[in-house]
Amino acid sequence: VSGSAPAALWGGRFEGVLAPELERVNRSLPVDRRLWREELAVSVAWARALEGAGALVAAESAAIVAGLERVGERLGGWSEREWAEAGDEDIHTLVERLLFAEIGAVAGKMATGRSRNDQVSTGTRLWLMAAARRLDGQLADLQRALVGQAENQVETLMPGYTHLQRAQPVRAAHWLLRHVWPLFRDRDRLADAIARAAVLPLGSGAVAGCPYPVDRAFLARELGFQAISENSMDAVSDRDFVAELLFVVALAGSHLSALAEDVIIFSTSEFGFVRLSDSYSTGSSLMPQKRNPDSMELARGKAGRLIGELVGWLVTAKGLPSGYNKDLQDDKTALFGALDTLGAVLPAVTGTIRDMSFDAGACAAALDSGMLATDLADALVDGGMPFREAHEVVGRLVRLSERLGSPLDALSPDQVRGVSEALGAVDLAAALDPGRSVERRAVPGATAAAAVRDQLRAAGERLNRER
Ligand code: ARG
Repeated sequence: VSGSAPAALWGGRFEGVLAPELERVNRSLPVDRRLWREELAVSVAWARALEGAGALVAAESAAIVAGLERVGERLGGWSEREWAEAGDEDIHTLVERLLFAEIGAVAGKMATGRSRNDQVSTGTRLWLMAAARRLDGQLADLQRALVGQAENQVETLMPGYTHLQRAQPVRAAHWLLRHVWPLFRDRDRLADAIARAAVLPLGSGAVAGCPYPVDRAFLARELGFQAISENSMDAVSDRDFVAELLFVVALAGSHLSALAEDVIIFSTSEFGFVRLSDSYSTGSSLMPQKRNPDSMELARGKAGRLIGELVGWLVTAKGLPSGYNKDLQDDKTALFGALDTLGAVLPAVTGTIRDMSFDAGACAAALDSGMLATDLADALVDGGMPFREAHEVVGRLVRLSERLGSPLDALSPDQVRGVSEALGAVDLAAALDPGRSVERRAVPGATAAAAVRDQLRAAGERLNRER
């Protein structure tokens, strides 16, 4: 076989050189260089499949596979400068050029029956599947940090808020675990997204399918896919698997943001429920007293960027005509950007949570007896009063306490009886005890100690099962 390395893959029909202005915007190597391992794996599997289909003889496919291995060794040792100096259009053309340098013109046979259109979707799916599994591990780490804290805070009581107004007492462990369950759902969604990405596009060619009888099931097995695509046009056109992962990432980012917001508020001097460790707080260049929760603010802020990547990609992908379109090249910018962002912020959040300490005294001090007004109404209900009436009666007591500027538990028995005889019969001290209030909520999912311990056990068991 003879021939020389082609300048561009599609050089044959063009006479002029590509305008530098177009080249600059068209080149994707600076982004898709991260797919080099996937590109090599896809190419090795393809060479074997071509041999199986009779499109390559054994010696050719062996030369290609050995050559690809050497290309892998070479790329594995490339410095940033070497990557920067490679002028290739994308990872596919780069690998083909390097393979040519290794084995000569037989390298050109690897392109038989395939197209960058099915290659890029295959490589991107492979990359996504591995990245999503790494992300799953990072989410599990954060869950372990939250559960670890919760184990030590079952006895700590703090206000549960609605509208950020003190509502009812809860166990601090209950608050911590509140942030564990959404992460399980994120991880379920991640597993779902991986399963839908694990469908092999290779064999779809440019749009109409491969004209050689390649064994696509073999390709799927070789590369770790669970199934093969049913329609070659769909396989090269659609990047819904990218959109889906971006959604999962954006939602996980928004869960981190909600956790971060709680921690930021609870670590203020006004609340003081938690204190961040020195390693996870930053100081101010001006104000010596400052301890800033930067990791949490970054987590809250980055959620904006993650949502942006999702929305941006959905807009790019909408309304494209069937078949590959260059618009699709941007999927990797969105995908890498989102996963890099979340992948960087998550360990910082996990470390902050793991190192954070609680001030049980400050948590308890924030529990005022007004938060037990519901419990007081419940006590009247226990005596046979309909809840709506009880709510009204306790409402009058709250009004009195506000007028007198005296907390509920400081009102005299006469003042209480003055509001309602039924109220006078209630054991006020018991009804207004936050410890009893949380213990009264013993149904599954509620904040009584036994229910919280059940929750801890369920979360811990699931985390251990997955290990
Ligand atoms: N770099 C391209 C991408 O990422 C590869 C596919 C190019 N296909 C084409 N027909 N020009 O989408």
